[in-house]
Amino acid sequence: MPLKRLVNAGLLYTCAAPGGQAAVHPVPRGTLVWEGEVIRWVGPEADLPAAFAGAEPVDAGGAMVIPGLIDCHTHLAFGGWRAGEFEQRILGAGYREIARAGGGIAATVRHTRAASEEALFARCLDFLREMARLGVTTVECKSGYGLTVEDELKTLRVYRRLAGAQPVGIVPTLLGAHVVPPEFANDRAGYLHLLCDELIPRVAAERLAVFADVFVEETAFRPEEARRYLAAARRHGLEARLHVDQLGDDGGARLAAEVGAVSADHLEYTGDDGIRALARAGVVAVALPLATLYLGQRPMAARRFVEAGVPVAVATDFNPGTAPSYHLPLALTLACTLNRLTPAEALKGATCYAARAIRQERRLGSLEPGKRADFVLLDAPDVNYWLYHFRPNAALATFLRGRPLSTGAASP
Ligand code: NIG
Ligand code: FE
Repeated sequence: MPLKRLVNAGLLYTCAAPGGQAAVHPVPRGTLVWEGEVIRWVGPEADLPAAFAGAEPVDAGGAMVIPGLIDCHTHLAFGGWRAGEFEQRILGAGYREIARAGGGIAATVRHTRAASEEALFARCLDFLREMARLGVTTVECKSGYGLTVEDELKTLRVYRRLAGAQPVGIVPTLLGAHVVPPEFANDRAGYLHLLCDELIPRVAAERLAVFADVFVEETAFRPEEARRYLAAARRHGLEARLHVDQLGDDGGARLAAEVGAVSADHLEYTGDDGIRALARAGVVAVALPLATLYLGQRPMAARRFVEAGVPVAVATDFNPGTAPSYHLPLALTLACTLNRLTPAEALKGATCYAARAIRQERRLGSLEPGKRADFVLLDAPDVNYWLYHFRPNAALATFLRGRPLSTGAASP
């Protein structure tokens, strides 16, 4: 396997774990050496060990270097869009009101059921190509718009095919408990039975998901229903992650801590007791500021989580309702302006802590020897400037598993 080394790079942020949320470990005139898919060495270019001097040089053109960005919360595969609801909400309709009238998630469920596996696959392929151009190298992908055994399996099979068909890493999550589908409106117990006794065993048998997610909300699932679903998932080897406290404090953060979830996501309404519970249980909190922005909600209070010792990840929540954008760098800028993370803290949230939120911290999320050679060259002198001067795309090149995907020139 040929050795390669970056030359002529600017500031390189390793984003290694030690030091907490703000510690992104900048290395001036940093470089890295990689062999095939794997990083072999990282440090100042001046300290390059003689053993690596013969590695093939790759000119970074003075660019800033960060680990490949990880979008640890998306609903990537869905049919249709919901631009009409965007207008309705601007005119004053509430998200819950639209959901109760059969719109919202249920509308996307109708479109997704009608879409073929092939059509969903083709759309996701386009989304992933665009995400990679922005510097995203790994994406967590939820089902949750099929809500029948066959339509959930169809969605998860799209993710399996995507994992083999393009270079962005895919982490599949079963979100069978997104909402109770209309045909079970008068039989919630029947739907839970379907989830626990049919869908979860099928997903586990086909190894189609790594995680199970549930939307804990007045219009979705109650905490006791979530407990039952997540317990069944765990028995089948699927770890828990939860959508909680998005539209009100439903005790969701405490529930995430109680079930030992990997992550608790949204958290706009979480109170101090919920934050303390997450800290004690070591759950990653995932901020989703695009959803906050689109719903015009109060932002998740990221500073309080950081101060309590909870690692905060940042993701897009890309979906056709609350966050119709896959632009993770935009979410990072919003994590600064809405959630009050510093740019360095936001960067740690889309690298090291995002990797932790998908249980991939041993392989991904930082530029360290042994980790995957996923990294991005950015047109910026430092992290503050990158997230302050928002542009359509500041990425000059994205390297996935050591190989470059050319992204074209960044705008000035
Ligand atoms: O994360 N909260 C639940 N699920 C999505 C919204 C899905 C939708 O509106 O289609 C979210 O915001
Ligand atoms: Fe979501």
